[in-house]
Amino acid sequence: MATTTEKTYNPVTPAIVEELKNIVGARFVIHDDAEKLEPFSHDEVVEKAYRHMPEVVVRPRAAEEISAILKLANREHIPVTPRGAGSGLSGGAVPIHGGIVLLCDRMNEILDIDAENMMITVEPGVVTSEINEHVEPLGLFYAGYPMSLETCYIGGNVAENAGGGKAIKYGVTNRYVLGLEVVTPTGEIIELGGKLVKDVTGYNLLSLMTGSEGTLGVFTKIILKLLPKPKANVDLLCLFTDAREAISAVPKIMTQSGIIPTAIEFMDRSSVQASCEYLNETLPYKNAGACLLITLDGPDEQQVEREYEAVGELCLANGAFEVYVADNFTTSERIWKIRRNCAEAFAVISPIQANEDPVVPPSRIPDLLEGLRKIGEKYNLYTPTYGHAGDGNLHSRISPKPEVSKEQWYELLPGMLNELYTLIADVGGRVSGEHGIGHKRKKFVPMFLSPETIEVMKSIKRALDPNNILNPGKVFDV
Ligand code: LAC
Ligand code: ZN
Repeated sequence: MATTTEKTYNPVTPAIVEELKNIVGARFVIHDDAEKLEPFSHDEVVEKAYRHMPEVVVRPRAAEEISAILKLANREHIPVTPRGAGSGLSGGAVPIHGGIVLLCDRMNEILDIDAENMMITVEPGVVTSEINEHVEPLGLFYAGYPMSLETCYIGGNVAENAGGGKAIKYGVTNRYVLGLEVVTPTGEIIELGGKLVKDVTGYNLLSLMTGSEGTLGVFTKIILKLLPKPKANVDLLCLFTDAREAISAVPKIMTQSGIIPTAIEFMDRSSVQASCEYLNETLPYKNAGACLLITLDGPDEQQVEREYEAVGELCLANGAFEVYVADNFTTSERIWKIRRNCAEAFAVISPIQANEDPVVPPSRIPDLLEGLRKIGEKYNLYTPTYGHAGDGNLHSRISPKPEVSKEQWYELLPGMLNELYTLIADVGGRVSGEHGIGHKRKKFVPMFLSPETIEVMKSIKRALDPNNILNPGKVFDV
């Protein structure tokens, strides 16, 4: 599935490996060792067809080293695939043309915490959850909350414009990216934005870079906006007999409560069960067809209490048969851990699955769930579903029932996905809400963007990366 129409590249010769060693130091070059290279041949996409081995992995420590690597790669016509923690779900960090994997793990310093401006400057290899460990003692907070926050890198979050669990209230990564130091595909080091809350000096290249999936630049410094840490925080676990009822309550909570919750996460029974079994946890989900995990946060306990009571009432009025309140960190964390581990749990259950990331206008979320159910019925598939219901963004781990053979699965897969994406397009949705296109979803992009729109995107890629060196074969083929 890594096939592409793009022209071929030159191999990484021993002489080039020597040059790379001179740039980053011999210790930080992995080469000629299949076992050590293998972890860089995939991300968290389960299907083996999306894997591809790199020829060499380099672990630079500085922007200047990355610049030198990219200049070398342009000179020699070798592809370079930037990589963070490899926790992606679209094959974005997979070197599908071989060549160099540029691993950002050594660039993992917090460079500056500027409490006065409520900003932090970090390197791309900082693990996302570390940011809050550093700023919370100062009464500050970084609002990005991808489900993989304990393992993913902030550089990857910026590259994918990561969404996650708190986007309804706090938005996604790009709301917080105020400044970037970027190494361009041709090896120039540029600075965009800065410690500025407002800035319209020229085109908004910050927004262009954020979500560019490693195809337009490699981030070497990231300035993030912080917020005052909410003083109170409560989670509601709302159980519904039926998944449809649960999902139908979501647009009502969004429009009738007068409140914007921090999170409205959805898990159907299979998802809760899979994650509980994976973690050896328990939740009272046995009688529930689905649950909503709703978070409220705010400046004081009274306000949050008023809000969670209103939202809880609305859930009960719309079919919830039980609403549990988690108002301490331990219980909250227990439930959220179950939610955060759904993806991991399904990844170990089946090696054959389609892990999709559709996003639809929030009010159409019941149509999306219903469409998934019908597809499951028609093709005899499991369609366990969980995700960020408040954002209109659900993840489904579609997999064959036991009576469907592997051969039948691969036969039905293209038609099934085509049907799913047609439905998503019909309700005004998009192919990916947060996992990105990578190479896994690029064939579906033309169902959602016009040829003219895609051409504008390609012309940006060509302008910045004339030799098509940086992460080629991702998002689209140029
Ligand atoms: C989640 C990740 C996989 O929501 O996006 O669990
Ligand atoms: Zn998600």
